[in-house]
Amino acid sequence: MSDFDLVIRNARAVTASDSFDCDIGIRAGRIAQLGLDLAAGKREIDAAGRTVTPGGVDAHCHLDQPMPPPTRTADDFDTGTRSAACGGTTTVIPFAAQQKGQSLRAAVEDYRARAAGKAHIDYAFHLIVSDPTPTVLQEELPALIREGFTSFKIYMTYDDMKLDDGQILDVLDVARQHGALAMVHAENADCIEWLTRRLEAAGRTAPRFHAHARPMLVEREATHRAIALAELVDVPILIVHVSGREAVEQIRWARAHGLNIFAETCPQYLFLTAEDLGIDDSYKGAKCVCSPPPRDRANQQVIWDGLNDGLFTVFSSDHAPFKFDAPEGKKPNGEEVSFRHIPNGIPGLETRMALLWSEGVLAGRMTPHRFVELTATGPAKAYGLHPRKGTIAIGADADLVIWDEREFVLRNEQLHHEVDYTPYEGMRLKAWPGITLSRGEVVWDGQFHARPGEGQLLACGKPSLLPQRRAD
Ligand code: URP
Ligand code: ZN
Ligand code: ZN
Repeated sequence: MSDFDLVIRNARAVTASDSFDCDIGIRAGRIAQLGLDLAAGKREIDAAGRTVTPGGVDAHCHLDQPMPPPTRTADDFDTGTRSAACGGTTTVIPFAAQQKGQSLRAAVEDYRARAAGKAHIDYAFHLIVSDPTPTVLQEELPALIREGFTSFKIYMTYDDMKLDDGQILDVLDVARQHGALAMVHAENADCIEWLTRRLEAAGRTAPRFHAHARPMLVEREATHRAIALAELVDVPILIVHVSGREAVEQIRWARAHGLNIFAETCPQYLFLTAEDLGIDDSYKGAKCVCSPPPRDRANQQVIWDGLNDGLFTVFSSDHAPFKFDAPEGKKPNGEEVSFRHIPNGIPGLETRMALLWSEGVLAGRMTPHRFVELTATGPAKAYGLHPRKGTIAIGADADLVIWDEREFVLRNEQLHHEVDYTPYEGMRLKAWPGITLSRGEVVWDGQFHARPGEGQLLACGKPSLLPQRRAD
């Protein structure tokens, strides 16, 4: 009788720190042995000549998140995790979002029900705290953190979500007391509203003016303020979807002063610019409306530098899936609508890994170790899932990607989300995940192998991020 359910032979395994040639023996969904010439498995996959990385951990995506009508996210836990798996991601962390007036516990229970029986891969939840009442702060949030919901997002913009500074301090204080990690969407809501009104009054309502209403200054100011609030409370925070130089400078300043400020960025800030929102008033630009907006090529380079030098801990998709040609998506009132009413967000769960492997690693911009750190190990550590997730190690879940290196042109029709476009249509890529394994089961090998309900809700531990060095 074979010891292993599956052996992956002749892998070129890559972790955040090492590369090594080995066979990977898998038993009961976990990596049981790494070594040369392992005994035969019940099944075998020959990975000769191919790189094997940990499956991706996409720590920022929006699946079946309740939205103000008529808006609806195109992907739920079925289609979203299908798309993730086909793109080499084996763990997703979407958001259980509290609506104002709603109990946080009710938001979590509602979200649990939305996921149940649907997910093809494992998942955890971040919380979104939009109404920090005394009950939320003193009872619900501490209890949920104890139950394994150890991270939550707070917004400094969006009317239905935003917190004022006093509320942010209260929420950060709970994070500090209970060892949770707060993720901050840093954009100044009042500046955005002021600019939006002026643009609308001047008749500048096309999608491209979304970027004019959210210049980098509004992100810089909010990033600075979030850092100051975290310093006051003395708690680490993670700034999400950082778009360019001015926010990066704030984070570098904070770190140089010994503050534990962590950061996430996303593919849109490497591969899109504000011009993708339109160089004329075409409505097509709505496809790339997201917040913060993509900037310019110089800022793309700033983000590449931050990915390489350790500024960023997490590379997420911020998959916010809205159909383009649909009233529940990017066209709430046809094309006759001010940019302020266009749902914010773009799809990217399935393309995140291949974009960074292809344009980062294979294009010589990034080491494979850094790729693994950013797409798997870093997010797993930040959100308390490491070492079960995010690495290739004995005892870890057998969540793996076996890469195929081949050139092709990316088309939305190849993807498995429910969105009717990809912002990266027509891009020439050099690789795609050939096989994705979720806890030792093949979920993607050029065909998607559905296993609805097999994905488990993970209880997250406390974040295990290294503190930044204190300045002298
Ligand atoms: O535009 C974006 N990023 N939409 C998704 C919601 C969010 O703020 O992450
Ligand atoms: Zn956000
Ligand atoms: Zn988001």
